[in-house]
Amino acid sequence: MKKILLQLDVDPQPCSFDAVVAVDAGADVLLQHGNVSPKNVVSLIHGAMFTRAGSDLASTSIFLGGKNIAQVEEIASQISNTFFNSVRVSVLIDPAGANTTAAATVIAAKRHISFQPSTKSKACQALVLGGTGPVGQRVSRLLANQGAHVHLASRSFERASQHCKLLNKNFPLARLEPTSIKMLEKVIGSVDLIVSAGGPGVEMLTEAQLSQAISTTVCIDLNAVPPAGITGIQATDTARRDGTKILYGALGVGEIKMKLHKAAIQQLFQTNDQWLDAEELLTIAEKVDVSNEQKSQ
Ligand SMILES: NC(=O)c1ccc[n+]([C@@H]2O[C@H](COP(=O)([O-])OP(=O)(O)OC[C@H]3O[C@@H](n4cnc5c(N)ncnc54)[C@H](OP(=O)(O)O)[C@@H]3O)[C@@H](O)[C@H]2O)c1
Repeated sequence: MKKILLQLDVDPQPCSFDAVVAVDAGADVLLQHGNVSPKNVVSLIHGAMFTRAGSDLASTSIFLGGKNIAQVEEIASQISNTFFNSVRVSVLIDPAGANTTAAATVIAAKRHISFQPSTKSKACQALVLGGTGPVGQRVSRLLANQGAHVHLASRSFERASQHCKLLNKNFPLARLEPTSIKMLEKVIGSVDLIVSAGGPGVEMLTEAQLSQAISTTVCIDLNAVPPAGITGIQATDTARRDGTKILYGALGVGEIKMKLHKAAIQQLFQTNDQWLDAEELLTIAEKVDVSNEQKSQ
């Protein structure tokens, strides 16, 4: 039975990156739909649910993407409501690559930092620059759900507050604190982890600001487009040590992301009931990272 992936995208043109990864990960047939909305998604889902039966349903899966994260979430909820009993197919949700990128980022940090408080240490203090974008939102959510205290930063304090409130609505225990770029001086000296998730080619942290980050052990810049988001980090950095800091660049994290993205597509076709959102992707990323570590030993 051929593995069919229905690539649903809220943008007019389904993302070509997601299409290539899907084929490389083993999808035999890719059916692409752009401009997917809450109004037109149900008939697309019915086409996936009602064409194959029993164990054959596992050979049809859905990839849901697109830049507008709120719209993707609304459609995801509609897809979930359309399924009933065992009449369903597996779904992977990755708006603008935010879930796979965020899970890979958390895995990179987790190699060096423990997020949960312990008898020996307090909870990890994390600063997420560009925390209002799709990637920054997901990094903040995953870090906070792992036990970190997250300072979510934006140029606008109001926007940062709004995103913290939105996250806390769904994750009431998550410790999120809004901050603005103007207020960075107050927090930068006490954070253990800095993740820069600003727009492509935007410098989010200068060398002078980085030098104030005296407690920071891990620094991750997700921007691959020059200039660097954090001055001094190169895109290819993968756990490069610079003084007391460990540095990761976009390609260093991207390597984990690619492995995770492919592993997630392959997992979709194992059963017909998988729902792979940010948290589930983090679990897969942990397994992928452990098996890679074992191979390299
Ligand atoms: N390594 C990988 O595998 C991978 C995968 C996907 C994405 N990425 C990268 O991850 C980063 C984040 O992606 P995204 O889609 O979430 O980015 P985005 O939506 O373009 O930007 C994220 C946030 O950056 C802030 N920002 C934008 N322009 C700015 C400027 N000129 N000055 C200061 N702040 C600015 C904005 O926050 P405020 O307006 O609230 O300040 C925005 O919400 C990008 O660099 C992207 O290329 C990497």
